[in-house]
Amino acid sequence: MNSSLELHVAIIGSGPSGFYAAAELLNQTNPVIFVDIFDRLPTPFGLVRGGVAPDHAKIKTVTKVYEKISAHPRFRFFGNVEFGKELFLKDLESIYGAVIFAVGAKSDRKMGIPGEDLKGSDPATIFVGWYNGHPDYKNYNFDLSAKRVAVVGNGNVAMDVTRILAVNPKNLQSSDIADYALEALKKSNVEEIFLLGRRGPAQAAFTNPEIRELCELEGADLVIEPKEINLDELSKKSLEQGSGGLTAKNNVQILQEQSQKPIKNQPKKIIVKFLVSPVELIGKDGKVTEIKLEKNKLYLEKDGSLRPKGTGEYETLPIDLVFRSVGYKGVPLTDLPFDPKSGAIPNEKGRVMELENKKIIPGLYVVGWAKRGPSGVIGTNKPDSIETAHKLLEDFSIYKGNNRQSQQEKILDLLKERKIDFVTYEDWKTLDLAEIEQGKKKGKEREKYTTIPEMLSAIKKNKIQSLP
Ligand SMILES: Cc1cc2nc3c(=O)[nH]c(=O)nc-3n(C[C@H](O)[C@H](O)[C@H](O)COP(=O)(O)OP(=O)(O)OC[C@H]3O[C@@H](n4cnc5c(N)ncnc54)[C@H](O)[C@@H]3O)c2cc1C
Ligand SMILES: NC(=O)c1ccc[n+]([C@@H]2O[C@H](COP(=O)([O-])OP(=O)(O)OC[C@H]3O[C@@H](n4cnc5c(N)ncnc54)[C@H](OP(=O)(O)O)[C@@H]3O)[C@@H](O)[C@H]2O)c1
Repeated sequence: MNSSLELHVAIIGSGPSGFYAAAELLNQTNPVIFVDIFDRLPTPFGLVRGGVAPDHAKIKTVTKVYEKISAHPRFRFFGNVEFGKELFLKDLESIYGAVIFAVGAKSDRKMGIPGEDLKGSDPATIFVGWYNGHPDYKNYNFDLSAKRVAVVGNGNVAMDVTRILAVNPKNLQSSDIADYALEALKKSNVEEIFLLGRRGPAQAAFTNPEIRELCELEGADLVIEPKEINLDELSKKSLEQGSGGLTAKNNVQILQEQSQKPIKNQPKKIIVKFLVSPVELIGKDGKVTEIKLEKNKLYLEKDGSLRPKGTGEYETLPIDLVFRSVGYKGVPLTDLPFDPKSGAIPNEKGRVMELENKKIIPGLYVVGWAKRGPSGVIGTNKPDSIETAHKLLEDFSIYKGNNRQSQQEKILDLLKERKIDFVTYEDWKTLDLAEIEQGKKKGKEREKYTTIPEMLSAIKKNKIQSLP
């Protein structure tokens, strides 16, 4: 009889990329793969819980797919276990045949300009985590007594941040936004939001539904002066040649149409400016008061892209708050190679390799934002994780020699020995229900627990209550 071989795989990180990798591995019949997925938080789903905007509930229903994966008998979840703090590479290598890193990119890119560290200048990453009730960020205080805010960047995160600052908070009332954030937004004095792009409308990184949402927002006017969307010759030509595809073409059309619409005099204004780069944040008593912008023009780079170049023409806007939304960035993991340039783990199609000599490190793999850098929507991670999973399977022959028999107890022993209060998937479901129940009382989709101790005690309390 030809019995199937067995492989135990650890996945670090339970965001979309971790779940898609798990699904692909669990689908295999030979070898039969057992997947243990670890997350530093007691809650799974990564940025689907801590990044996707609270008013984008439909997008979050993708977790139903992850639910199904979690129900597989060879899947286990260990939340509240941080790689590099409680669990190390040598631990995992002694238990699992292969390890996949799916840790995302938790930090942010900097603008690299004077005054960036003044009070009132913050990365979008923190604001996003704050309104989404991520335990790392709940204690941040954003001074929403500010009247004028600058949002730097033209990606979809900049769209989210601008929308959350601008929308009438009553439209967030029933969402899963953290309660403290909703209260702060209700008291917000924000009147004007400057949305600043360093390139032109044809190069914006946002997508059509997201810019349309800003056009149709209840609570704020999207103000675009016609001169802002007068395309330069290079942009016109690149659009004609199909650069940026339909998204770029439609973005320009949406913006042009919006620039022609009368202003409705809603309580807030979003003022769109293209072809400007912040060159300095100016402050008083340590707090930001002005943003100095340099006008840019575009030039054709050797690779065919249009890049921004300063013209030496400056303007200064009085502002009280700045959110830089210029991209996320990965952080190095203990005992793993890291590419500081891309902020990702160096890899060849998902096989982790040394940075300098590009030597593949057997048994280590990477997926998602940790693999390709912080870009792509949830769906982008599926083919990316499948690619890595297939590399792992191709390499499986190298694990055959020391094929491990059931290792399922070993990790439990290790976590117990280290007194790690880990959270199982069942525990998470208890917490999930408790959050939904808490939300119902307030007419919200869910009310999140926003500290780890609160999450752990809610799990314990609700588990006891559900005992027969
Ligand atoms: C603000 C924002 C909004 C977005 N909105 C949308 C949207 O509306 N629609 C859409 O399609 N895409 C959206 N995206 C993109 C989407 O969220 C990403 O493509 C996707 O989450 C990346 O998946 P990932 O698994 O690589 O990383 P993540 O989702 O970041 O998951 C990484 C996981 O690893 C865990 N982790 C990190 N370090 C460790 C460690 N040391 N030990 C254990 N666990 C660890 C983290 O806790 C986290 O759970 C958004 C992104 C952002 C930033
Ligand atoms: N609703 C959704 O589907 C949704 C929501 C949020 C996020 N996401 C996805 O998540 C990913 C990350 O989004 P993101 O917005 O963080 O990143 P992004 O799409 O890469 O956008 C980053 C923006 O910052 C600008 N930028 C970079 N450096 C700058 C600098 N020094 N000064 C001024 N501007 C600078 C970029 O301009 P250049 O183009 O000139 O480099 C770009 O406009 C994207 O794939 C996004 O689509 C999706």
